[in-house]
Amino acid sequence: MFEPDLLKPILESIDKLPPFPEIARKILELSRDDDVDFKDIIDVIKYDEAITFNCLRLCNSSYYGLSAKTFTIDQAVVKLGLRNIQMIALASANELSDYSNAQEGYGFGAGELWRHSVATAIISKLLIEKINLKEDSILFTSALLHDIGKIVLNKYVGKDMVNMIELAIKEKLSLVEAERAVFGIDHAELGGIVAENWKFPSMLSNAIKNHHESPEKFIPNIVAWVRLSNLVYHVYLANSVYSHHREIISNIKQSILFQFKLKKEDIDQVMAEIPEELKKVEMLLNLAF
Ligand SMILES: [Fe+2]
Ligand SMILES: [Fe+2]
Repeated sequence: MFEPDLLKPILESIDKLPPFPEIARKILELSRDDDVDFKDIIDVIKYDEAITFNCLRLCNSSYYGLSAKTFTIDQAVVKLGLRNIQMIALASANELSDYSNAQEGYGFGAGELWRHSVATAIISKLLIEKINLKEDSILFTSALLHDIGKIVLNKYVGKDMVNMIELAIKEKLSLVEAERAVFGIDHAELGGIVAENWKFPSMLSNAIKNHHESPEKFIPNIVAWVRLSNLVYHVYLANSVYSHHREIISNIKQSILFQFKLKKEDIDQVMAEIPEELKKVEMLLNLAF
């Protein structure tokens, strides 16, 4: 089952990824500081046509209702806030267009990986708001980019997907463990290497690398919050498709929530907020991609 010949080309394909877009990097860096002067952000954005255009478009979209129209980037940045700006910066980058493409290997349609990524980031924000923890832009960015390794592995999983699923069922493995069994590496570890190549802060690359480790293994740090946000999204999806999966929520509650100082009601509230938040994601999906 293990295909040792594939590991080398997989690792080599990381070098073929485009460099991380500079403007997005600057925006992510600036938005790490919650007290950042918005003028500094505007100074970066205003030289990028796509980001400027998309900021104005989101501001004037139906998501923001019928409030007064926004015509300048200065007003738009204030209205949107740092986290929306982060998402728009990433969504507008041509270099990252693979995010919006279909990832057929994984069976994702166009926009699906991006939708999952943005939703996970939004969930991380909602979750930490529940325990009044200060919002952390590294957490938000980690959640946004946690599955970047899937873009690399997508090309290889396609023909092996059936084998992987069979192996996962037979050996009672998760799909991530099946990736590791077949390729000798999984999308989380690959994503960590991509983040290191892009010279991201180690906290961010660690969060990406470890996002499939059990959250119980960690004291609630950024890695664990990304993992939990990812889990909540999957539970939300399962619940919306199969209502009998409701018991999964209590699994989160019993084994993990206590460590995060979260209550079951907090998760229920976040779940209830997701549909409205997903509307924003849809709006973002309709931006540059
Ligand atoms: Fe993942
Ligand atoms: Fe994920």
